[in-house]
Amino acid sequence: MKYTLILVLALVAPLAYTASLPKPEIPAFIQSLKDLRRGPPREPITKRVNAQTRWITQKLDNFDDDNEATWEDRIIINEDNFVDGSPIFIYLGGEWIIKPEDIASGLLADLAKEHNGTILTTEHRFFGESIPIKPLSTENLSKYQNVKQALADVVNVIKVLKEEDKYKDSKVVVQGCSYSATMATWLKKLYPDVIVGSWASSAPLEAKVNFREFMKVVGQAYRELGGDYCYDIIDNATSYYENLFYNGEGAQAKTELNLCSNFDEDDEQDQWQYFSTVANVFANIAQYQKPENYDLAQYCSVLRSFSDNDYVALSKFVQWRLGYPACVNTRYQGAVNYYLWSKDNYDGDGLAWTFQTCSEFGWFQSSGSRSQPFGTNFPVTLYTDICEDVFGSDYTEAKIRALIKETNADFGGIESVENVYFTQGGLDPWAKVGAGVAQGATIIPQASHCSDLGSISASDSAALRASKERVSELIAQWLA
Ligand SMILES: *[C@@H]1O[C@H](CO)[C@@H](O)[C@H](O)[C@H]1NC(C)=O
Ligand SMILES: *[C@@H]1O[C@H](CO)[C@@H](O)[C@H](O)[C@H]1NC(C)=O
Ligand SMILES: *[C@@H]1O[C@H](CO)[C@@H](O)[C@H](O)[C@H]1NC(C)=O
Repeated sequence: MKYTLILVLALVAPLAYTASLPKPEIPAFIQSLKDLRRGPPREPITKRVNAQTRWITQKLDNFDDDNEATWEDRIIINEDNFVDGSPIFIYLGGEWIIKPEDIASGLLADLAKEHNGTILTTEHRFFGESIPIKPLSTENLSKYQNVKQALADVVNVIKVLKEEDKYKDSKVVVQGCSYSATMATWLKKLYPDVIVGSWASSAPLEAKVNFREFMKVVGQAYRELGGDYCYDIIDNATSYYENLFYNGEGAQAKTELNLCSNFDEDDEQDQWQYFSTVANVFANIAQYQKPENYDLAQYCSVLRSFSDNDYVALSKFVQWRLGYPACVNTRYQGAVNYYLWSKDNYDGDGLAWTFQTCSEFGWFQSSGSRSQPFGTNFPVTLYTDICEDVFGSDYTEAKIRALIKETNADFGGIESVENVYFTQGGLDPWAKVGAGVAQGATIIPQASHCSDLGSISASDSAALRASKERVSELIAQWLA
């Protein structure tokens, strides 16, 4: 008896120990990825909005009749404008934590008002407070975290709402941004009768392992909107640091970049991670830049103002964007440890999306293009190594390639879908895996990611305004 007890304790102890580990410091690399995956910026709420939180009971497995397990999915809903028979407008939540701001302003909120409709946003499973199951082990994620389950959840939210008498005749329009625009597209494709139409802002549609075009467009945005000088600072400084590492002077690079002491200058994975973090820091700014605000021009003057010396300027700029940490923490193993920790200690976002990139989409933003200023030192292997080290041997690079092929076979990649309105920014790095002119997409010159979510405004470019008017007309037609 005693023996068994000791054995059981021995088995339980390591698990309990992991769960109670203190939260590790978030490595700069993870922080830069989290910033890239945040939802689009929204206007702060200035007036009272009557957004309510509701919980919708969802099946853990929408495709297994024998699995009766359920969980509670969060939606935020504003029914203030609703009159009987009016439509429902849904802003689909993506790989982020939903907030009342998401439905408080912007063109969709304006249209909801105009059509006397209800507006809501849905939280995607495994993000924010909508967690179907814990821990987020590879086994649990591989069964329950995928876009098909998430689309079925949205269908169920609509079904539950339409059980209320007042909504029984309501038509449903959805909008998405980025991955949630992918969902908006595929929802119309898989469940054409559930919604009348979708507005897909910046939807990536083609799964791809080596997404080398991403950083190319980021570089192009800096060149076009910041100026050649700005592109050259980044390019020049990157080559300088690459050469230091290459020539065995990594210790000097480490000092000049203020990397933490545990950074191993001779470890290529640590190097990859640093260069990738730098690229992400610049990509974060480009992803939601507004040409009408001259965002990139301004950031480029800040970059220059740090120093006339290109490599000092880059090092300081990156530290500024990272919030001036005591030292820049970008060890490869630190990132892996953080993800392993967050399997047991849920951190709101991050891990679940990383899993979807490893299992469904790829979209790993590598240094594989020669036409970008971020160097050559973050191959796609950086990302596939993380997949394998965090999720195990079912997620090696070869296996990820096979999984991504399946996604494209299941959803058809880049193609037009009836009653889906695609918009793209001309300088949005994501547009390279999305619908183009051939699929009827509207391209807004110089614009970035999800640039058309806001209300029609005097500062809109002519093309942006025209696109907003077009989607307003289309939605009116779908609802007619
Ligand atoms: C919205 O509701 C108001 C008041 O009930 C009504 O006058 C108006 O025609 C409605 N508009 C639409 C587009 O249904
Ligand atoms: C999956 O989640 C369930 C329910 O919380 C848990 O009991 C189980 O241990 C998890 N599976 C793994 C392999 O972690
Ligand atoms: C790169 O930067 C260094 C130091 O700031 C400068 O001397 C050099 O001219 C630059 N090279 C290019 C190609 O811009």
